[in-house]
Amino acid sequence: MKKLGELSVYNTISSYIYLNILFELTVMKRNPVACIFDLDGVLTDTAHYHFTSWRRLGRELDYELTEEKNKLLKGVSREGSLALILEWAGIEMEMEERKMLMDRKNEWYLEEIEKLSESDRFPGVTEFLDELDREGVKYSLGSGSKNARNILNKIGLAHRFKWVVDGNDIKKGKPNPELFIKAADMMEVSRSETVVFEDSTAGLAAALKGGFLTVGFGDDPELSELAHFTIKSWKGFSLDDLSEALSAV
Ligand code: BG6
Ligand code: MG
Repeated sequence: MKKLGELSVYNTISSYIYLNILFELTVMKRNPVACIFDLDGVLTDTAHYHFTSWRRLGRELDYELTEEKNKLLKGVSREGSLALILEWAGIEMEMEERKMLMDRKNEWYLEEIEKLSESDRFPGVTEFLDELDREGVKYSLGSGSKNARNILNKIGLAHRFKWVVDGNDIKKGKPNPELFIKAADMMEVSRSETVVFEDSTAGLAAALKGGFLTVGFGDDPELSELAHFTIKSWKGFSLDDLSEALSAV
């Protein structure tokens, strides 16, 4: 027969264990059903080459594109980006000429990304994708770029993405949520349990409009104003970290 003191110690320990398990299950963990990754500035630093190519084009128009203004171009389509630059430069232009400028910018951009390789993936990205695969969490690409498939190939990730939605597949670019909604529909997952990783405010706005969970990627303080939470690097970032952060959302 157990003494009264022993019983209460036993009860206390088992309630502690029970509460801990309950806490882990209900509070600490909120596994996403799927993830959607933006490409430029999230999986690799191509966002930088978009900037340098637009700046080069701007200079031809006697307009200096600053890093601050460039933040507003992130995530925005090629057409949309040029429209903004022309607006800031106070230039009106017919569609035909705009097309020529967009082609020129894209040629410069393609020259810049010509040498991209596997080593240009952001550190830690591969390990995070490996973990998603191991845990059976679906993931897709959600990029507004028409060059996305080419870049995925160059950085050796094309075979990892079963689902890809890019600038060729949509009518309305970010901040419209069309792209992310399409990606979630393809994966047949619930949007409210799917996480979008984005480095741009336009992309985060799109994801929020679509009812997704959002993670801002990078060190721009504006990201934390929009996203559910932010990360600065993939290095050491795990599914456990994601689930824990989601539990607070
Ligand atoms: C987005 C970039 O991913 O793609 C934008 O963040 C870019 O900066 C847009 O303008 C369109 O890219 P592309 O490659 O189709 O010109
Ligand atoms: Mg981006």
